[in-house]
This record gives sequence, C-alpha cells and structure tokens, in this order.
Amino acid sequence: MVDIHIAKEEINKVGFLNIELDPEMDLFSEIIKLKKEKNAIILAHYYQDSDIQDVADFIGDSLGLAQQAKNTTADMIVFAGVHFMAETAKILNPLKKVLLPDLKAGCSLSDSAPPALFKIFIDKHPKHKVISYINCSAGIKALSDIICTSSNAQKIVESLPPEQLIIFAPDKNLGAYINKQTGRNMILWDGSCMVHEIFSLEKIVKLKIRHPQAKIIAHPECEEAILQTADYIGSTTGLLNFTKNSPDKIFIVATETGILHQMQNASPDKIFIPAPPDNNCACNNCPHMKLNTLEKLYLCLKYELPEILMDEELLLAAKNPIDEMLRISAQYGL
Ligand code: 13P
Ligand code: SF4
Repeated sequence: MVDIHIAKEEINKVGFLNIELDPEMDLFSEIIKLKKEKNAIILAHYYQDSDIQDVADFIGDSLGLAQQAKNTTADMIVFAGVHFMAETAKILNPLKKVLLPDLKAGCSLSDSAPPALFKIFIDKHPKHKVISYINCSAGIKALSDIICTSSNAQKIVESLPPEQLIIFAPDKNLGAYINKQTGRNMILWDGSCMVHEIFSLEKIVKLKIRHPQAKIIAHPECEEAILQTADYIGSTTGLLNFTKNSPDKIFIVATETGILHQMQNASPDKIFIPAPPDNNCACNNCPHMKLNTLEKLYLCLKYELPEILMDEELLLAAKNPIDEMLRISAQYGL
C-alpha cells in the first residue's frame, strides 16, 4: 500500500512517485488497462521516448496537443510532455484532472522568461501587443495578448495589422525567423531552447557533403545559420509531414531526436540522420522531455499523481490568450 501523504512529500522533493516496480510487469498492457478503467487519455509530444509514443492516444506538436486537450471527452488527461504543456491542458480543462509523470519536466526556453522581469519589460513598451510562444509559463501567458506555437506563429503575427507594434517572447530564434518571413520588426525577448541551439553548422555542412542528396529539415527554434542551410523549416508536425510527402529518401533532421520514431514509422524505406550537436554528447535529446519514462507514466496513471494544480485567477488570465490562439488557428483551418 502506498501512503499518499508520503508520496506527495516525495513528489515535492524529486518530482515523481518513486515506487519500485516489479521488473517483470507488462507496463504496456497495465497502462492500457488503467486508461480504460479511468477514462483517461494519454497525450504525448513527439520528443517523448518511443515506448511512451507507442502507448499514447495522440502524439503531436504543441498546437495539436493543445487542440486535443481542449476537445477531449476523457475524464483525465495524462500529459507525456513538459510542464508548460500539461499546464496548458489544465488551463483549457480547469475541471479535469491533468497529470504529468514527472513534475520536474521543465523547459529551458520557458525558464528563460521569468514573469516578474517580463512584466517590467512589457511595461516599458505600452503600445506593443504581446505574442508569446506556448513554451512559457502560465505567468507569461497571463501577461500576453495572444499565444502561438511553431505551426501557427506566422499566421498569428499576420492576424495583427502591419502597423501594430509587437513584442515576441520568449524564443528569439523563432521570433527572428517570423520577423524575416513577415517583414515585421517585432521586439524579441532574449530566450532560447538549449536543444535547438546545440547544432553544429560545420558538422551539418560536412554531413551534407557526404550525403549530397539529403534534404536538411529544421525546427524554427534553431539559430539562423542552421535555418539558412535548411530545405524545409517547420514545427515537429510540419517536419514529419514533409518527410512523409517528399519523394526524397535521406533527411538530416535538426530538431530533438524523439521525432525520428514517427518519421521512421511513417517512412520505413527512408533514412533519417539526426543533425549533430557541436560537442560529442547526445545533447539534441531534450533532458526535460526525457525525464518522463514508461514506469513514471504507469505510476502517475495508477495513483493519479503528480497532478497539475493551479491558482484560479492565474488560470483564467492565462486562458484568454490561449483561446485567442485557438480561435485564430481555427479561422485559418490550422
Ligand atoms: P512544436 O511542438 O510546436 O513543434 O515545438 C517543439 C518544442 O520545442 C516543444 O517543446
Ligand atoms: Fe523546452 Fe527545448 Fe525541451 Fe522543447 S526541446 S521542451 S523548447 S528545452
């Protein structure tokens, strides 16, 4: 028997339920059984480990996951992703139980924008509307006019009149890319993703010389020099669809490596090469995303912990700009 009070204290310390499991247990079928029993849905981001993707009900990019979270009829949402994603699901479903297998699964990009500093920054620019990338805390969302993701950022920016002054936060690389695409001059918050800034231009160029027929595809969170080498730039769903629809057979993929699982599943005859980082470690694996494991997912579903809990006022303030994003996205059929 698990003492829930002790379990909660443990979660406060380490972020997850630290209970030893029988190594013989068939986690896959146990998770599927629990899902049915509890009318729960598992939403997983493409950057999750492949075993988590394989047990999920829906795998997607940030926009797809937010849309699924909004529309689900399940009683419980288990979010296999990072904290800002589960928090977004809770904001969209205040009355549902939203669980995150490891509460410490954060995000370097989200951490780069502390709400108190951001408030001082936006107060200095009272004429600017604030568009924030979904990879931010509820505190930042509450200070924003509209949220965007990598798949709708351009359309969201273009939905504002050309003369409208804009602050874009927290990802400076995505912001710079959208400035280039739209000809706007948005003020950019100086944040970035530790995974997408690690790619080595030199090594990518060498790979391309070795595989001249390969297409380079990149996520817009990458730095400009990497984006300049890319044949296609898009969100994780955009990148996956590009590889499915392209007649090309070899792809150098500049984003987190978790996406390769779905790319390879969809196109078993194609070759996917992860873009190399600028050192010798596997730094293009997101350490935050990879905190979730199948064991933690099972425990979280079984004991319904760790749960995302939010202050009601903050939740409501953060909801408006997300609703606005979903409304504009639906207008454009995204
Ligand atoms: P998308 O899911 O919008 O492609 O963003 C990738 C990402 O970095 C999520 O943390
Ligand atoms: Fe955050 Fe980057 Fe990890 Fe995405 S890949 S969760 S943006 S640190």
